[in-house]
Amino acid sequence: MLSTMNIVMWVGVVLGLLGQGSYSLYTPADNYLLVCGSSQNVTFNDQTYVPDSVKSSVSLKSQGNSFVATSNSTAPFPIYQSARIFTRKTSYKFVIEKEGRHWVRLYFYPVPGHNLTSASITVVTENFVLLHNFSFKTFNGTYLFKEYAINVTSDNLVLNFIPSNNSIAFVNAIEVVSVPDSLIPDQAVVLSPPGPFTGLSGFALETVYRLNMGGPLVTAQNDTLGRTWENDVKYLHVNSSATNVSVKPSNIKYGPTVTPEIAPYWVYSTAETMGDANVVDVNFNITWVLPVDPNFMYFVRVHFCDIVSKSMNSLVFDLYINTDMAFGSLDLSKQAGNLDVPFYKDFVSNTSAGSDTLSVSVDIRELISLDDVMEELGLGPNGGLIYCMEFKQELVVPRAWTGLQ
Ligand SMILES: *[C@@H]1O[C@H](CO)[C@@H](O)[C@H](O)[C@H]1NC(C)=O
Ligand SMILES: *[C@@H]1O[C@H](CO)[C@@H](O)[C@H](O)[C@H]1NC(C)=O
Ligand SMILES: *[C@@H]1O[C@H](CO)[C@@H](O)[C@H](O)[C@H]1NC(C)=O
Ligand SMILES: *[C@@H]1O[C@H](CO)[C@@H](O)[C@H](O)[C@H]1NC(C)=O
Ligand SMILES: *[C@@H]1O[C@H](CO)[C@@H](O)[C@H](O)[C@H]1NC(C)=O
Ligand SMILES: *[C@@H]1O[C@H](CO)[C@@H](O)[C@H](O)[C@H]1NC(C)=O
Ligand SMILES: *[C@@H]1O[C@H](CO)[C@@H](O)[C@H](O)[C@H]1NC(C)=O
Ligand SMILES: *[C@@H]1O[C@H](CO)[C@@H](O)[C@H](O)[C@H]1NC(C)=O
Ligand SMILES: *[C@@H]1O[C@H](CO)[C@@H](O)[C@H](O)[C@H]1NC(C)=O
Ligand SMILES: *[C@@H]1O[C@H](CO)[C@@H](O)[C@H](O)[C@H]1NC(C)=O
Ligand SMILES: *[C@@H]1O[C@H](CO)[C@@H](O)[C@H](O)[C@H]1NC(C)=O
Ligand SMILES: *[C@@H]1O[C@H](CO)[C@@H](O)[C@H](O)[C@H]1NC(C)=O
Repeated sequence: MLSTMNIVMWVGVVLGLLGQGSYSLYTPADNYLLVCGSSQNVTFNDQTYVPDSVKSSVSLKSQGNSFVATSNSTAPFPIYQSARIFTRKTSYKFVIEKEGRHWVRLYFYPVPGHNLTSASITVVTENFVLLHNFSFKTFNGTYLFKEYAINVTSDNLVLNFIPSNNSIAFVNAIEVVSVPDSLIPDQAVVLSPPGPFTGLSGFALETVYRLNMGGPLVTAQNDTLGRTWENDVKYLHVNSSATNVSVKPSNIKYGPTVTPEIAPYWVYSTAETMGDANVVDVNFNITWVLPVDPNFMYFVRVHFCDIVSKSMNSLVFDLYINTDMAFGSLDLSKQAGNLDVPFYKDFVSNTSAGSDTLSVSVDIRELISLDDVMEELGLGPNGGLIYCMEFKQELVVPRAWTGLQ
């Protein structure tokens, strides 16, 4: 699974550690950062977004059906100052240099003055529905950011923006950026009934939560893959059950399989621990409760790094996903091979029976960083369906929605 490129990357990472901060080595083969409807470059999170009209490897079909809007007074971030507005189905086609997973990040903010709040937006690729009939009218927020990880298996990616009948659609910014092949595997563990889940690479994933346990918000500029990690406190079931701990980021010892591409220093160097280390009560646990849509399955990655023990084999606990034991008597330092060495484990899970939450718990002692809960927006092998056999709800991608006409 580990390609030569990754080994080279790792060597680089170790060298990078000596010179603190120069660890960013992954260079995405495809790296489209577009600010839509803008007439000039925009800098956001230390990156330059270019206008959607200037890039020769991106084509905008039916551009005649679109117009642009700008505002600089109210936008929450510079990237939301302009928008391209579509009156009919319009497609962006991206030339893809390297097949494989790509981040598709979409930014939406209803720039004032164009009735965008009542716009109804559907976004589809040839195989996946990314957004279905979304409207700010029924959304409790001022702007919307969506992140997907899609395995692109051809030399182009088409994003179709479809207004509902008699409505308009719009978008403020788009990113299409290569993801390292090693980041998201094809296989993960299912807990009930126990067994492997294979075929993940055929699913589109939508990021739902990415949490930095016990640590601050980590923004895109501090993550080699432009990810954002939020603090976990608001998801704690009983917030007094945890106290945060942290060590210097430079303490973290990345290995050959876990590199900063998996999760950055700031994620592994902070953790939540049991509220009172002296209380050894077997019924005491830390639980995170994450609201999710029960119609989907979830890819859950749990990150660990023993930053608290003074010696090997002193930290043992159980990990649960919902009520299923995911890891019994997990000896962190043994799993990782040493203290301060990160490792992670992947699961695929439904929501907790009959509920619209997914929970993750640890009992006894410490735990580190849970992250990346991604919603599967699945697709069966023959395309056209948003599907996962387990889904209670199937959305069909009408033929007319896809393709370039
Ligand atoms: C916009 O950014 C691109 C890419 O960084 C750069 O090549 C181009 O010169 C910039 N254009 C302007 C007008 O600054
Ligand atoms: C944006 O700001 C510039 C000056 O900073 C101003 O001249 C322009 O009118 C503003 N545009 C809008 C749409 O508010
Ligand atoms: C889209 O959403 C609007 C409400 O925002 C609703 O009236 C309409 O029926 C929905 N259309 C579809 C096709 O789901
Ligand atoms: C909208 O969000 C605010 C703050 O995040 C919250 O207090 C409020 O209950 C939410 N309203 C609805 C209808 O979800
Ligand atoms: C638009 O209306 C037509 C006919 O009324 C219908 O077949 C089609 O599904 C509608 N499209 C959307 C996106 O709602
Ligand atoms: C805004 O859009 C909605 C739905 O598309 C429409 O019903 C309404 O009349 C529009 N309002 C204005 C002021 O254009
Ligand atoms: C993408 O899909 C292709 C074809 O199914 C597969 O061979 C490849 O391994 C997948 N890549 C990733 C990164 O999942
Ligand atoms: C860690 O806990 C302290 C005290 O409870 C709190 O002030 C601080 O904000 C927390 N840090 C993070 C990153 O959550
Ligand atoms: C993120 O990066 C900025 C500047 O590079 C730095 O000042 C900040 O401390 C970093 N913080 C975190 C939590 O990543
Ligand atoms: C913890 O919970 C208490 C009561 O349930 C609440 O008042 C407090 O605001 C919460 N603290 C945080 C940081 O969420
Ligand atoms: C964790 O503790 C809560 C009460 O704080 C309890 O309801 C729950 O069942 C416990 N979970 C596990 C997996 O032990
Ligand atoms: C999710 O639930 C469905 C039944 O609704 C079941 O068939 C499927 O195996 C479950 N998936 C996982 C990963 O547990």
